[in-house]
Formats: sequence, structure tokens, C-alpha cells
Amino acid sequence: MKPVELKKDIYWVGAVDFDIRNFHHYSRSPEGSTYNAYLVCDEKNVLFDTVNVHEYGTLVKRISEIIEPEKIDYIVCNHLEQDHSGALPRMVKLCKPEKIFCSPMGYKSMTNIYDTTGWPIEIVKDGDRLNIGKRNITFLETRMLHWPDSMVSYLEEDKVLFSNDAFGQNIASSFRFADETDHKTILNATKGYYYNIVLPYSPQVLKTLKRVTDMGLQFDVIAPDHGLIFRTPEDVAFIISTYKELAEQKPVCAAVIAYDSMWGGTAKLAEAVADGLADEDVPFTMFNLQNTHPSEVTTALADAGALILGSPTRNNMPMVNMVGCIAHIKGLRPQNLVGAAFGCYGWSGESPKMLTEALADMKVEVVAEPVKCYFNPQEEDLVNARALGVAVARSLKEKCAQ
Ligand code: FEO
Repeated sequence: MKPVELKKDIYWVGAVDFDIRNFHHYSRSPEGSTYNAYLVCDEKNVLFDTVNVHEYGTLVKRISEIIEPEKIDYIVCNHLEQDHSGALPRMVKLCKPEKIFCSPMGYKSMTNIYDTTGWPIEIVKDGDRLNIGKRNITFLETRMLHWPDSMVSYLEEDKVLFSNDAFGQNIASSFRFADETDHKTILNATKGYYYNIVLPYSPQVLKTLKRVTDMGLQFDVIAPDHGLIFRTPEDVAFIISTYKELAEQKPVCAAVIAYDSMWGGTAKLAEAVADGLADEDVPFTMFNLQNTHPSEVTTALADAGALILGSPTRNNMPMVNMVGCIAHIKGLRPQNLVGAAFGCYGWSGESPKMLTEALADMKVEVVAEPVKCYFNPQEEDLVNARALGVAVARSLKEKCAQ
């Protein structure tokens, strides 16, 4: 794969990782990912971000097709997470850059993660500008999008935004640009990335979108560090409006059921809950956590307004997959959900109550009493579970109508 020119003398020089499925070791990336890095050739040659350490050779090869890597003058580190900075130490050694730019918090991360002895680091603050010849770069700090060090770089004359993780998607393909594929593919990947990585920082997303609007920044190209690049007015508008919608988290009239089951009883309850949702014409997706990663559940919440959890009780606790799923979702702080819980038990039966408390703790509006049932569900238990599905559906419809 050759380097790709985004605009005159502005190149993609990143790496496509077709293999990765366990992104950052906490989120599934079923379609692989990319580590986008960008090279701008001007009076000063500037590399924006690097790649994961195992793709160092690819980065060097790609750059070498444009200029000798040793001719890189500046390296800009928009974000120190290792998928973008892993190759940095070797690049610094190879290029011997005149300067390495990062945010104030980036400096703290960089000097902690790497041995930066002798590195020519220069801290740039929010709004700082840098002339590199015919072009000027504006640096904008985007703290907590999604690390404290995060910033983006804007090429003023070309109206190109190197947005780092923002607007990213886990996609590995031969395409580099959004206009080479369809919006549905990009939307699904954007939801997966946003809901598992960016979601807790949605207030900052909305604030940043307002800020760039107020600043009057125009974007010909939005170039994230993961996935496809947006270069048409239609695609730029699409990804910005998608981000706004994802950040707003308006409830969608659909439900997610996530459950675990030991011997099939809680699975039967889950089916009955689903029947209740269907009675009220509320669409649903249902996940058995025995074969579903929590990140898939979270991604589904992008198209839902209800979260219904089910687990049997094992040793006075919900099943371990459910506990992990709750930990994953809770940390991502989803908003505007209603929910309820259910589960079977053999002797103590704490799980449905604990799941209900976990939902409340996540600020999910609990709209039905938990349903618990002794061992194998009987007709009455299935009726109760179905009623739970109906109750959640009705509350959700009311919420969506507001
Ligand atoms: Fe793509 Fe936060 O690293």
C-alpha cells in the first residue's frame, strides 16, 4: 500500500492492522483497525503522530516513498497513547527531529512512558500556532477526548484537521477515504469506537463541537488517527453531525437485553422479556454474555434507550460475565436509559436485586421490579418476565415521545 496524498504535499503514511481484534485489550475490533499518521512536506517536514510499535517498519517504509525519514524536522504528538506513540522512540532515534511538539499533559505522559533524555520536546498550549513555511498549524487541546493529553492539529491554509482519536473508527481496509465506502459501514464503526472509548466524555465532545463552530473553523478534510478520512463536504458534515448525535445520546425506542445463564433458566426468562417488548412493538437486540464481549453490548446501546440485564445467582453474586459487563458499561457512563433486571436462583437469589442496584448506580431509570425465579421458570415466572418486558417498553415509549 502506497502513501496517499490527501492534499498537495499532505500524505497519509500510517499502517493498516488487519489482525487486531482486541483493541486496547478492552474493546472488540471485529474489522481490525488502522493507525493513521500524516506527513506534511513544507519548509519544515512534519510528521503528525506515529503508529503502534509493531508497525514501525511500515511507517518508515511509507515515509521513505516520499522523503528520507531523516528529513523530518518536526514530530507532533497529538496523543501519547501507545497506538500512536509506540513507534515514537525509534522514529526520534531515526529522524533526530529538530523539535517534538505535545500538549502540557502530553509532556507529562511522554516523559513518563518513554526515556526522553535528550529529546527536543516543546510544549504547545491551546491555541498556539506554528509556522512551517507556506503553512501554519494551530494546536487545540481537547483534554479528555479521550486522555488528558489529547490535542488536535489544524492546518489553517489547507483546512485539514488531524483529529487524532476523535472521529475515529476501527476499520481495516484498502480504502483510505470515507467516500470510497458507504455511510452505513462508517456509521457502525463510528458507533462502536465512540460508545466504547469516547462516550464518557460526551459533554466535552459537545463543548468542542460548539467551540470549533464559534471559532468559525472550516474543514476541507478531517483526518482521524483510526479508520477512514473525510474529504468531501458531504462526509465532513456527516461525521460531525454523527458525533453530535452520539454525544447527545437521545433515547432510541429500542431495547438491549444482556443476560448470562447457567443451565438455561435465565435464558428462558430473557426470551419472555423479549416477548414483552415485542408485544409493545419495541425492537430489541439480545446478547448472551457467554459468547458476547461487553463492548458489543455497549455498541448496541447507541441504538437503544433501554438496558435490561439478566443473570442467575452464583455464590451470592451475578455471574462473572455479567459483573464484567456491568463494569465495562458503568465506566462508559451511558445516559438517558431505562431498564430492569431478572434472573433465576437455586437458594439465595441476590442477583436480580444486585443487577437492579447496579442499573440505578449507573443512573439507569429502573422502571420495573426485578423478576426472580426459583430454578427452572414456570408459567407464572414467564408471565412475570413478559410483564417486565412490557413495563420497560411502555416506559421507553413514553420517554421517547417526550
Ligand atoms: Fe487511538 Fe487513545 O489512542
